[in-house]
Amino acid sequence: MALENGAISLPDAGRIALFRARADHDLSALPPERIEAIQGFFPEYQALKARGVAVRVAPEGDYAAALVFLPRAKAEARNLIARAMALTGGGPVIVDGQKTDGVDSILRDCRRAGAQVGEVFSKAHGKVFSATGGAFSDWLAPARREVAGGFVTAAGVFSADAPDRGSLALAAALPVALKGRVCDLGAGWGFLSAQLLTRDAISECHLVEAEHAALACARENITDGRAQFHWADATTFDAVAGFDHVVTNPPFHQGRAADADLGRGFIAAAARLLARHGTLWLVANRHLPYEKDLSAAFAEVNEVAGDASFKVFRARKPKLKKTR
Ligand SMILES: C[S@@+](CC[C@H](N)C(=O)[O-])C[C@H]1O[C@@H](n2cnc3c(N)ncnc32)[C@H](O)[C@@H]1O
Repeated sequence: MALENGAISLPDAGRIALFRARADHDLSALPPERIEAIQGFFPEYQALKARGVAVRVAPEGDYAAALVFLPRAKAEARNLIARAMALTGGGPVIVDGQKTDGVDSILRDCRRAGAQVGEVFSKAHGKVFSATGGAFSDWLAPARREVAGGFVTAAGVFSADAPDRGSLALAAALPVALKGRVCDLGAGWGFLSAQLLTRDAISECHLVEAEHAALACARENITDGRAQFHWADATTFDAVAGFDHVVTNPPFHQGRAADADLGRGFIAAAARLLARHGTLWLVANRHLPYEKDLSAAFAEVNEVAGDASFKVFRARKPKLKKTR
């Protein structure tokens, strides 16, 4: 609508990078042969590709313009806008965001950074505006940062500042004697896999992670030859199976609210991926009601550790029929 009513405009030629484009975005007002979605989340990447949209996990080369679909985390939003400014040689960078994504404060910040901001198009709870010029280099996040334990993380990945408290609780609850083939579902930058690989009796460790940037950090953090990396959707992953153990700190946020459905998909996947004798180790925020789902998928479920914030489950005897 902002394009159609002239509030924003695009240059006549050249590629247009769409940061954080999703398959459910209406991209019909954009010239299809000139757009390139930048999307590292595997399920969205695949869905965009299936729609015929050109998609990359990271930008490549220069662009004539960029559109940033605003993420909620402010540091990440600022980083994307700064990258978009650099790749376009100073814009135009079109920002599309909801009030709940903090679009008003980003708009103020863009003006403060000295950008020329055109007409601000408002509709329902969203705003779209175009920015050019300005000084954004101090909005850029470093490509890598080092956190406790000597691990590297990147802006925008889960627990980028330090190992997650839930994952620490899960790691502490894992028996020293774990052995065999293990799978880390939603492995992030590799914290749990690194803990698993301290055990000599682990023969293979498969890291399954949907965020390309997080998996890239995991590859740097884990150089052990027993590790195998899979950029994939954990809920449909089937490249390898018959695991002795699956460990997971499943995702619990889609936008603002905690969403138990995300973890449910991981529990079902774990039951499918485990050997009949296999064991699932799962940590969850205490308020997330996974008990029923665990009991539906496993014959034996125990809460083996936890505190006021987290609970750690051990689930055995997967009930689902094996496909392999
Ligand atoms: C709660 S974090 C745990 C990360 C890591 N295991 C740790 O302990 O720091 C959940 C992870 O699942 C990933 N994720 C979300 N949806 C996914 C999916 N459908 N398939 C695979 N990974 C997914 C997220 O990117 C995130 O890295």
